[in-house]
Amino acid sequence: MNKLSIKLGLLFFLIIFGLETFMFFFLHSALVESRVEEELIALQTRGNSHRSILEKNFDDEIISHVTLMESEANTDVVITDKNGEVLNSSIPKERITNYIERPVNDISWEGHILEDNWKEEAFISTVSPIEINGQTAGHVYMFQSTESIHSLINRLNDHFLLTGLIAVCLTFVIIIILSKALTKPLIKMKEATSKISKGDFSVSLPKSGNDELGNLAESIQLLANDLNYLKQERNEFLASISHELRTPLTYIKGYTDIVYKRDLSNEDRDKYLNIILEETNRLSDLVKNLFNLAKIDENSFVIQKELLDLTDFIDKIEQKFTPAFQEKEMRFEVDCPEGQVLMADPSRLEQIIFNLLDNAIKYSSSGDKAILTVRNNNHTIHITIKDSGKGIPEKDIPYIFERFYRVDKSRTRALGGSGMGLAIVKELVHAHGGTIKIKSEENKGTEFELIFIGADKNENNSISR
Ligand SMILES: Nc1ncnc2c1ncn2[C@@H]1O[C@H](COP(=O)(O)OP(=O)(O)OP(=O)(O)O)[C@@H](O)[C@H]1O
Ligand SMILES: [Mg+2]
Repeated sequence: MNKLSIKLGLLFFLIIFGLETFMFFFLHSALVESRVEEELIALQTRGNSHRSILEKNFDDEIISHVTLMESEANTDVVITDKNGEVLNSSIPKERITNYIERPVNDISWEGHILEDNWKEEAFISTVSPIEINGQTAGHVYMFQSTESIHSLINRLNDHFLLTGLIAVCLTFVIIIILSKALTKPLIKMKEATSKISKGDFSVSLPKSGNDELGNLAESIQLLANDLNYLKQERNEFLASISHELRTPLTYIKGYTDIVYKRDLSNEDRDKYLNIILEETNRLSDLVKNLFNLAKIDENSFVIQKELLDLTDFIDKIEQKFTPAFQEKEMRFEVDCPEGQVLMADPSRLEQIIFNLLDNAIKYSSSGDKAILTVRNNNHTIHITIKDSGKGIPEKDIPYIFERFYRVDKSRTRALGGSGMGLAIVKELVHAHGGTIKIKSEENKGTEFELIFIGADKNENNSISR
């Protein structure tokens, strides 16, 4: 009884069965009523036609002629005079006495239905007055046995019963088919969701139209696909993390073993300890970056926006970075017009620009140059960081913002990269409501463009995300 198809089927069946029963009952009684009415009208017409003959010649010969005619038919006639005395009849008098004894005064010439209770009476009956010279000369009573009506109705009942049975069977079959067809996609969806809840996202629900059920199936399919994608991404992410952690740990362990076990010169020991320190720093950076990304992912990351004087801000960045560019023998130029303002979290914006400038240094050679430009374009602020470094191959550009993605894994690792910088930049820019664009050509250089919504000087200066 818990099955939806059974519940639905039973409900449909009860409703349709109820409707069918009501309609059959209505049709049956309407048919019977009209049939009885037809019989009564025919009886009345027959009586009236006898009466017309009798009005022309109301004598014994015609009376017996009419009676004889009726004795051959399945109707009967009784002819009385004006006092109600039976002149002749085609039926034994005692069977109809109680009908002809009823008062029949003031009957119109069209006649009158004397008895129409076919259910309980033995006869249905009509009476027509015989009028000669404006005076009632007698009456013509017509009788029809209700047995014929009963047998007619019995035959009708048999037909109705048979039709009813066929209708019920057909309804039953149609409802079974319909409720199965209706519940089939639901059952498939239920199976799919229980598969999903067990962690198996490889469900495939067929497209079943544009109705609510079709939309539900589509949503479940989308959910399964998304979960599957997330599962794969998580697995890849975990694999990447363990790989990234393993490499510095292997170095640290290896060099610690060397320093610990071997008799080394002070110079060698310092060299190895330096490597251990570098790898430890790299490990700690990696963990810090991962932690940052995790915070952004779970939305617990708060951006404290304030009104920044970009000219000042960029000036400080220039001061901080110039030594690093000098060390790499690169030129670093800044182009920021006076009076530029932006609503941003200063430490996060610094982190964004730091990561991009860090890449510009890391992926360029001595003699190359980098330019940081700030432009105000109507309502948007554009911060561009462009270098003339080694660029990014076209095929790698779509993946450049993915976590742990590096163009040349072995070489970039030597430069200290873990592939987290741009992922963090992208998340931080989005957290500011901005966008980031990249243009790059191999061996020519790379340009990152940050686009932020411009700030009104009167804007509230502390907005958290
Ligand atoms: N300005 C650039 N020029 C050339 N290649 C770049 C530039 N910026 C990024 N890349 C390429 O994109 C990859 C991803 O950069 P991202 O900043 O995310 O990681 P990373 O620099 O390797 O490591 P991290 O920034 O975490 O220290 C880099 O490994 C590098 O191959
Ligand atoms: Mg980087």
